[in-house]
Amino acid sequence: MSTSNTAKSLAAGNWKMNGLKASFEELEDLAVALASDAKPSCGVLICPPFTLVASFAEKLVGTGILIGAQDCHENASGAHTGDISTAMLADAGASHVIVGHSERRADHGEDDVTVQAKATAVMGEGLVAIICAGETEGERDAGGAVSVVTGQMDGSIPDSATPDTVIIAYEPVWAIGTGRTPTVGDVEEMHSAMRANLVARFGDSGNGFSLLYGGSVKPSNASELMGAANVNGALVGGASLKASDFNGIIDAYR
Ligand code: PGA
Repeated sequence: MSTSNTAKSLAAGNWKMNGLKASFEELEDLAVALASDAKPSCGVLICPPFTLVASFAEKLVGTGILIGAQDCHENASGAHTGDISTAMLADAGASHVIVGHSERRADHGEDDVTVQAKATAVMGEGLVAIICAGETEGERDAGGAVSVVTGQMDGSIPDSATPDTVIIAYEPVWAIGTGRTPTVGDVEEMHSAMRANLVARFGDSGNGFSLLYGGSVKPSNASELMGAANVNGALVGGASLKASDFNGIIDAYR
């Protein structure tokens, strides 16, 4: 794995709109694997649907598996039917909140201003924001991938962000759920541009932000992708739903 900076490594699972109470058995299996296999050098986080955050967080205390959420509202409380505040997520036992996932940006019209407000709310609650950025296939084909991603970072990351409160995930939209991934060279080019963007904005502490790669990560490509320079972990969708697959990705950090 990358050792080119001081950032901590994280294997994060995003269950999206998948999972019922019975799905806890996958996390029981994952906890068993974490206890019996070699201890990984990365943190382990699962972000299930809101309905499962509280019960999973409670049951996983002491296992080394952290529980996060996939979104939040930017306001602390009030008349926002169907929304969930960061205080509610903290109260439920979440440690991290994903904000600005491309599915939220596309399905719910979230722009950088909204994403930044959500990230600020997450940090204000003492939780860690995982801020997502990524280009579409058309944007990559037009040669604009790096400027799209760094532009999203400029707009979505609060000025008050620190390496302890914000993680950035590079998720090319065309690689999510498709089985396609960028080449390691493309990932390194993007992550190095992201690192440079953070250092230009935050100075030396820019080297401390964890940069995750997300998009069709699976056990068979995890070591290669996690070994890329400036990649400090993975944000995993489909392959986080099965304990054996997710543990196979964590293997990249054993
Ligand atoms: P995927 O999703 O691993 O299923 O491609 C990644 C994500 O959207 O976080």
